[in-house]
Amino acid sequence: MALVISRQDTKIQQWKKALKTAAPDIEVYSCLEDHPKEKIKMALVWKHRPGSLKEYPNLECIASSGAGVDFIFADKEAPKNIPITRVVDPMLASDMSEHVTALIFAYLKNLNQYKLDQTQQVWNPLPYARIKDFTIGILGLGALGALLATNLVHIGFQVQGWSQSKKVLPSVTAYTGKTGLPGFLSSTDILVCLLPLTPDTVGILNNELFAQLPKGAYVINVARGGHLVDEDLLEALKANHLSGAALDVFHEEPLDREHPFWSHSKVHISPHCASVSDTKSVVPQIIENYRNLYSGKSLKNIVSMDRGY
Ligand code: GLV
Repeated sequence: MALVISRQDTKIQQWKKALKTAAPDIEVYSCLEDHPKEKIKMALVWKHRPGSLKEYPNLECIASSGAGVDFIFADKEAPKNIPITRVVDPMLASDMSEHVTALIFAYLKNLNQYKLDQTQQVWNPLPYARIKDFTIGILGLGALGALLATNLVHIGFQVQGWSQSKKVLPSVTAYTGKTGLPGFLSSTDILVCLLPLTPDTVGILNNELFAQLPKGAYVINVARGGHLVDEDLLEALKANHLSGAALDVFHEEPLDREHPFWSHSKVHISPHCASVSDTKSVVPQIIENYRNLYSGKSLKNIVSMDRGY
């Protein structure tokens, strides 16, 4: 029995080292080295090469090394009848909460505008907003959204959340399902998307949704590029219906150099760095699931095949 790490970025060795350090007895391979394919029972994946998982005839579990699993569902050749697991990690959630909070304050206090002004030696103090002025609406109250909501409440924001199934969090106004969406949107000044990407949520950040936000609303997408219809955002910004957007995720990553978001004065871009799995923090749950697989015990953090997250 062995585990393969399958990804296309430069982090394979980092993951391998972390796994070997924490569990020297586990046989761990990089997908880039020669490895016994028939021994592989678990694939630890992050944007692996589509089609590559079918090379493992005895694969019993596909483990995402991040919170998202959309790239696994997008791989039409990935084995269908074995469990997929995802990462649920307090550090991933707190990193996301810190990043989004930083974006919110940068917006409240015009920090992005001042950075722009600085490049042109422009001295232009602007009126600034305060915590009490804005209601934050979080789309998606999973592990990441729930912690963000709780932390923003502690800071003093009015916070509301929207989710598919009802979630109760102290001092967070909850909206649920399709019927709850209009009420949620009409009272949201800063919208944060933290939804999983599924067939139900793809393209959810579109014209129709933006039109339901109050004029001047700000949009933060830290979930997946596929949630956003780029042209619709550009249109809503041009019409001054939205005052700006902060985007950490894109349809294509890295973002194409020709994409209009790069030079848009109202769009703040970051390179999918809001919250990145920390190997030290995540490896124990991967090892636990590997050992559970070995001893026939049930796995943690299994993804629902129906819901897609
Ligand atoms: C990051 O995007 C993740 O899904 O963990």
